[in-house]
Amino acid sequence: MTISENISLQPYNSFGIDIDAQYFMELNRLDDVVALREWRVNHDLPYLLLGGGSNCLFTQTFEGLIVRVNLQGKALVSEDDTTYYVKASAGENWHQFVRWTIEQGWGGLENLSLIPGTVGAAPVQNIGAYGVELVDRLHSVDVIDLDRGEASTLDKAACQFSYRESYFKSVSQGRLLITAVTFALPKKPRWKIAYAGVQQALEGKELTARNISDTIIALRQSKLPDPTIMGNAGSFFKNPIISNNEWQNLVAKYSNLPNYPQADGSVKTSAAWLIDQCGWKGHRQGNVGVYKDHALVLVNHGGASGQAVKTLAEDIIRSVKDKFSLVLEAEPRVF
Ligand code: EPU
Repeated sequence: MTISENISLQPYNSFGIDIDAQYFMELNRLDDVVALREWRVNHDLPYLLLGGGSNCLFTQTFEGLIVRVNLQGKALVSEDDTTYYVKASAGENWHQFVRWTIEQGWGGLENLSLIPGTVGAAPVQNIGAYGVELVDRLHSVDVIDLDRGEASTLDKAACQFSYRESYFKSVSQGRLLITAVTFALPKKPRWKIAYAGVQQALEGKELTARNISDTIIALRQSKLPDPTIMGNAGSFFKNPIISNNEWQNLVAKYSNLPNYPQADGSVKTSAAWLIDQCGWKGHRQGNVGVYKDHALVLVNHGGASGQAVKTLAEDIIRSVKDKFSLVLEAEPRVF
């Protein structure tokens, strides 16, 4: 295991931003944690654990250490009458892992097909799509505490999941290295196909994990740009969750504002709709822009700087605030 210096992060972030990290290492084996901990003792600099780099935006040279987590491996670890328990190492590609579970005949992750990134990054922001969130299928997360060098397993409650949030994102902030994730996949299918467009696309097809996965893949491809062709980080903004009062005020003025009522009485609305209403969809400034088919996705048309993406995001936040008095929050981490 070597720690390299002045490495371009372009291959390691889905926005395709060409910016350097001062130090860079690939964590291929659990033993590499020793070298990482040693580096931390000897350097008073920040470090960042990186999976597929699909949820970050680099705006300046990263003056610290980027740790690319590459741990590989996946297996059925146990089963009982109702559930398959399947474990995957953090560096496994998320989508390939989902398709592998489907090939084994285990359903449950099909709605999360084609989400970019790695297995280890998935719990950090509790990835979600088409009516299913990671928390719905997660059993536990294996971690190493990098301060203490101790390994442990966190159950679902300890992960403190909520919409695009977790203990790893909000509290432990890189102190815990996620090494593997165990999933609880139901033996009796619990298909989720109520999300707009999914049911219609499945009409006439048998309900199987593979067919649902194929449908989700087609839906995503029709709306979202492929990061290997056009740099992006998926949804750049979270859908705002607002109080019922705020909601009432807004809907009085904008009757077709999308709304997804939450269990606690608050209302989730659509950031894409808000941005679209401000006229941003398809907008281009220099080599950054808003994707033509989805207002929530900021794209790198080629050679963009992270700063240009950040400026565009700030312009969008300002215009949504001026029109709707709502402040959008970025989903990726900005460095
Ligand atoms: N809409 C517009 N304009 C657009 C796109 C959408 O007005 O350009 C409105 C429509 O009314 C639509 C509504 O927004 O009905 C919702 O759109 P969509 O179904 O595409 O979902 P979303 O809320 O924009 C979320 C996730 C996506 C996930 C989809 C599907 C967030 C921030 N985003 O998007 O996740 O794929 O649902 O479940 O929660 C990601 O996080 O990177 C991501 C792509």
